[in-house]
Amino acid sequence: MAEFDVVILGAGAAGMMCAMEAGKRGRRVLLLDHADRAGKKILISGGGRSNFTNLDTKPENFISSNPHFAKSALARFSPADMIALVEKHNIPYHEKTLGQLFCNRSSHDLVALLERECDEAGVQVQLETTIHDVKQGWQSREDGFAVTTSHGTYEAESVVVATGGLSIPKMGATGFGYELAVKFGLRIVECRPGLVPFTFSAEERERWCDLAGVSAEIVASLPLAASRRNRPPTFREKMLVTHRGLSGPSILQISSYWSGGEALAIDMAPGRMVFGELLAPQARRDAVAVFTALKTVLPTRWAERWLRVHLPQAGTVKDLTNAMIAQLEQEFHQWRITPAGTEGYAKAEVTAGGVDTSELDARTMESRRIPGLFFIGEVVDVTGWLGGYNFQWAWASGYSAGQVV
Ligand code: FDA
Repeated sequence: MAEFDVVILGAGAAGMMCAMEAGKRGRRVLLLDHADRAGKKILISGGGRSNFTNLDTKPENFISSNPHFAKSALARFSPADMIALVEKHNIPYHEKTLGQLFCNRSSHDLVALLERECDEAGVQVQLETTIHDVKQGWQSREDGFAVTTSHGTYEAESVVVATGGLSIPKMGATGFGYELAVKFGLRIVECRPGLVPFTFSAEERERWCDLAGVSAEIVASLPLAASRRNRPPTFREKMLVTHRGLSGPSILQISSYWSGGEALAIDMAPGRMVFGELLAPQARRDAVAVFTALKTVLPTRWAERWLRVHLPQAGTVKDLTNAMIAQLEQEFHQWRITPAGTEGYAKAEVTAGGVDTSELDARTMESRRIPGLFFIGEVVDVTGWLGGYNFQWAWASGYSAGQVV
């Protein structure tokens, strides 16, 4: 049996950050992963360039049963700290939009950074290792843990669970972290796919999906969720029609708040009156005028389809009344559509839900029930918005645990 101070399960963003920090403190760290290389999800993130943080990170950008939980870790390791690390390694980066920072070259730069830091801190990284079990207590001691793997058993004072969420199982995602939490008696907030495209019913697919590829800037909201304790915000970004439903940043963002069966409200022309000109004296008030107005905000094919769906009698309409124009305007700003479902974990960027934050110390990520057992990153019930926030949570929670394990 080999002995370490800390065994970290999962060499992803959070696990590597925790490992390098603990290593820098002189701790003997073993970092285990079943994959054949570390940081695989980092490599595919941000279209291969990793949106590695967001300049405007605030606790409000995270979804959790306890909206205050993330504050402490986010304050301990901020976007500025991540930028300093990236600059220390001379990695070129840029702000794309809305505070989102991406690598200029490739996300390989980021994985190389983490690998180098781990190496310099003396972290032992062991890949292609299946973890069979984690047990409390070893030798004659009651504290500490024994981690049984395909490569033998390792003993450590602390075990850090950094096995991530369920999204993209073909990249090696597993529910191991959740299962381990349950085994140790910790509560779990039910998991669901987050940052995920919506799918339509067959009828809505028939109506819209041959337009796949068209996009528009919209505002997405969940009107019926306004009474919820964690009231979802609205998101003004692009929406994309896909072969199976809807995607694009605004849709991915709102999907993390969607609880199934709920209607979305979509403002197709935020802040603009689309049909105002039809109300002018002498203005044309027929289908051609409606189509012309629609084309100022939508691609032609989409405008045609909108007209056909929302004004099926368009061919015979010659003189729309003020009330009909007002109704068209309202429908355009409050398009209600109920997704049939989501594309699921196969396409989700994150897993919402996870280890209940009431089980963990917000400063250290240590289990309150099981001293020495830590949970960091996506396995915890803290889910960031789209835009670099999930990595910032992985860095911050990994860093926080790394200071104490
Ligand atoms: P992460 O998933 O990174 O690491 C978990 C590790 O545990 C993996 O290496 C896995 O192999 C290992 N593991 C799992 N089960 C195991 C087991 N049973 N035994 C051994 N090892 C096991 N976020 C962001 O902020 N900006 C972005 O640009 C993107 N882009 C993006 C694109 C795509 C396609 C996806 C799917 C996700 C993103 N994300 C993102 C989200 C981001 O990748 C994610 O939130 C973090 O990687 C989470 O970091 P963790 O370290 O918690 O898990």
